[in-house]
Amino acid sequence: MQIEIPTTLIDAVRQARHLAVLTGAGVSAESGVPTFRDAQTGLWAQFNPQELATREAFARNPKMVWEWYAHRRELVGRAEPNAGHYALAELENRCRSSERVAKFTLITQNIDGLHARAGSKNIIELHGNIFHAKCFREDTRAANWLPTDEIPPRCPRCGSYMRPDVVWFGEALPRRALDESFRAAESCDVFFSIGTSGVVEPAASLPFVALQHGAVVIEVNPEETPLSASATFCLRAPSAAALTQLLAALGE
Ligand code: APR
Repeated sequence: MQIEIPTTLIDAVRQARHLAVLTGAGVSAESGVPTFRDAQTGLWAQFNPQELATREAFARNPKMVWEWYAHRRELVGRAEPNAGHYALAELENRCRSSERVAKFTLITQNIDGLHARAGSKNIIELHGNIFHAKCFREDTRAANWLPTDEIPPRCPRCGSYMRPDVVWFGEALPRRALDESFRAAESCDVFFSIGTSGVVEPAASLPFVALQHGAVVIEVNPEETPLSASATFCLRAPSAAALTQLLAALGE
């Protein structure tokens, strides 16, 4: 699929001193990552994710919620980064090259860790990471939990249950990640919004903040979104094809 990439878009990316990128579930679609809704197979088909991904559900039945996330971790763990993830890692790499020192901030709503596996470095995980856990009581993070026969495992510090380090329905986003994301949107000169429906706040506001601060905003999505009418450019294509062709157009 040949995608028309305007030269003014290429020039804006080439000249940017700070590139910010927001990604959503669409970027992982080509890796076959099951979305929240289609992760419901077999045993789990009878459960509604909106009722499992809450603090109340965990308090009521920690074992069931932990096991549901263990199931989702297994599905996500089998997925591999796709060409879109690799293209974003390469774009960051090029920003750091000797001829061109530009800042690069990758803000993702995805909890699958695929950007890091593809080699991206400066990543803000707005909705957490399914492979990490934190203490249900103290909210302190741990990249790993103690191996134990008990489900859920216990916090190594206080002995209370560990929970997945993801943002559940009704919860606030991590403060620091949110602040950094808004700072990036305010200070970047080019902002990409890729594979996100742009309906879940506060992430949905980020491209509009970037526009208000004068950035060129580029949407990559096969479908129209609430951002489309305001974006400076829209590439109506899947992210893997659009981003690899953009890299090629940017040249070495
Ligand atoms: N390339 C780019 N975009 C794609 C592709 C693709 N190959 N396939 C689908 N899309 C687009 C869809 O058109 C849609 O606009 O990706 C978007 C996915 O939208 P959502 O499923 O709403 O995902 P997202 O925007 O990440 O949702 C935000 O909502 O469900 C919660 O917490 C969850 O982080 C998630 C948040």
